[in-house]
Amino acid sequence: MRMVDIILKKRRGQELSSEEIEFFVQGYTQDHIPDYQAAAFLMAAFFQGLSPRETGDLTISMARSGDQADLSGIPGIKVDKHSTGGVGDKVTLILGPLVAAAGVPVAKMSGRGLGHTGGTIDKLESIPGFQVTMDNQSFLHQVKEIKLAVVAQTGHLAPADKKLYALRDVTATVDSIPLIAASVMSKKIAAGADAIVLDVKVGSGAFMKNSAEAFVLARTMVEIGHHLGRQTVALVTDMDQPLGFAIGNALEVKEAIETLRGNGPADLKEICIHLGSEMLNLAGIEKDKFAARRMLEDLLAKGSALKKFQEFVRAQGGNPSVVDNPSLLPHASLIHPVTSLFEGYVKEIQSEQVGVAAMWLGAGRTTKESNIDLSAGLVLRKKIGDYVHKGEVIAELHYNDNKEIAKASDLLSQAYVLQSEPVVAKEILLGKITEDDL
Ligand code: URA
Repeated sequence: MRMVDIILKKRRGQELSSEEIEFFVQGYTQDHIPDYQAAAFLMAAFFQGLSPRETGDLTISMARSGDQADLSGIPGIKVDKHSTGGVGDKVTLILGPLVAAAGVPVAKMSGRGLGHTGGTIDKLESIPGFQVTMDNQSFLHQVKEIKLAVVAQTGHLAPADKKLYALRDVTATVDSIPLIAASVMSKKIAAGADAIVLDVKVGSGAFMKNSAEAFVLARTMVEIGHHLGRQTVALVTDMDQPLGFAIGNALEVKEAIETLRGNGPADLKEICIHLGSEMLNLAGIEKDKFAARRMLEDLLAKGSALKKFQEFVRAQGGNPSVVDNPSLLPHASLIHPVTSLFEGYVKEIQSEQVGVAAMWLGAGRTTKESNIDLSAGLVLRKKIGDYVHKGEVIAELHYNDNKEIAKASDLLSQAYVLQSEPVVAKEILLGKITEDDL
């Protein structure tokens, strides 16, 4: 087999065999196929698309390109959750303890942030002492004992995806539905859960800018999960504004603790309840949607989810006192209020720009190697539907180094889209794709 023939076949829009896909994935992972051929293949796949069978084969080959977690030693149905990436998305910090408190075993591998999106691992690392790596045995033991562990995803899990994602990033081939679907699902399959709940974001801050595309991506991933014997449900959720108010690692942990206390932002709580209900359903704990919702609301109200979060922090070496005293989290030395130049109702808050502003403050990485300031970030004071007066504070910037403060402040002002007529915020849940929809 020759890579040039595979590229040509895809360029002509023909369907590749499973063997050809496996040849490409293994060859590229093992450095037998050079970047320039892989890049040409990705561009051909971008324009010609991949059939459902090809997308499934690409997923399997990438999932098998490295280690595959074996969670069979943990009793119960293990349910994983994945978000296609958003700004202010601290859902795992709330959802993990919430569903674990309901009895769902959560053995989660998460990533770090890059560019305008944050990562759960960075957020957890803002808790003093918190360890994001542990050996496999301790990981499994912790999930058995307290139903929840979150570790940093290693490069040995789906290494083909790691390499291909980096190449897609620099060859303008990220926003292809089959390539995104295979990338996400290969990691989920390799991470070993029995069932998967996906949060597909749509809006200015998401990969999918319109809901038609988001539903196609959702369906593609549910189809892959179904073919590979992992029950999968995808929720399509709104990202026309950041989730919650806080963006930045320690600030987001603080907001997550508030939410676990029952005082968090409504959109954040709502998305956690929706995703959590699906997880309870797939885990076989509560099939009825309304009963699942009641159970989760009850666990929040009784403080059981907050207690589980504290147990989880302690188990991973973090200081559990942050739960009762969030001022123990790192905090920035300077706060700068951003005021509005205009007045009107907030129609949209361009999430990507907000994420980039947070990055300039030090909360995010410009390159994979950059250091981040765990205390930096921003807190929005206005969200969609709110009225803003000229000169009113729309957000606060938290920072230690004022080199890029003007840039961050400008970006944030521009991120707010105002209009004179009142605006009603969309529901956070736009729709759902299950195996029954295939
Ligand atoms: N998230 C992923 O893991 N992969 C993609 O291709 C896009 C988003």
